[in-house]
Amino acid sequence: MLILELETTAYTAEQFPSLDVPQVALAGRSNVGKSSLINALAGRKKLAKISSTPGKTRSLNFYRAAGDGFYLVDLPGYGYAKRSKTERGQWAALMDVYFQKSTGLQAVVVLLDSRLPPQKLDLELISFLQRESIPLIAALTKADKCKNKDRSRVQRQWKELLSPSAPLILFSAKTGMGKQTLWAAIREAAGM
Ligand code: GTP
Ligand code: MG
Repeated sequence: MLILELETTAYTAEQFPSLDVPQVALAGRSNVGKSSLINALAGRKKLAKISSTPGKTRSLNFYRAAGDGFYLVDLPGYGYAKRSKTERGQWAALMDVYFQKSTGLQAVVVLLDSRLPPQKLDLELISFLQRESIPLIAALTKADKCKNKDRSRVQRQWKELLSPSAPLILFSAKTGMGKQTLWAAIREAAGM
């Protein structure tokens, strides 16, 4: 059984824990299911706060995997239209510092909505990670909400866009689909 403990919540760079610890971050659009994925992996309903209102997670949350000692980092989501320009600027600045300073970062799990074709902001994130040579794990979220046929189409679209070495995992926090596969990919990326 996987045990995740919330160790640090950081709203500013000053609040980051030591970033040389091996870590895997979760990134994706607001509301795509990052916090739900953490809860599903940990088998706990209320470890990470989730909400049907986008923009719930505003801090970086560092969860330590007991036993393994690496961090899973829940990043605040991007692309939430209702945020002010100032807030979006602050978000971007905080992400910049995180990516610059996190020498322990081993991979980023990019969460992509399985119901949507590739979105501009997702493609921008993926290009950024590729430029920085940060390994990527793609998780297609909310797979329970998507018909088989539509799912396969979106899967094919992403396969063409991503490098063949990037795992592409269908995931549902609701049914647990893909949970074991994703956890294995995360541990491997973290060097465990
Ligand atoms: P921010 O913190 O705002 O960036 O959002 P987030 O990416 O952390 O999303 P969150 O986990 O809060 O989930 C957003 C909404 O999607 C909630 O209403 C969840 O219940 C729902 N949701 C997340 N994952 C799944 C899933 O696998 N299946 C279904 N059916 N709903 C999901
Ligand atoms: Mg969240």
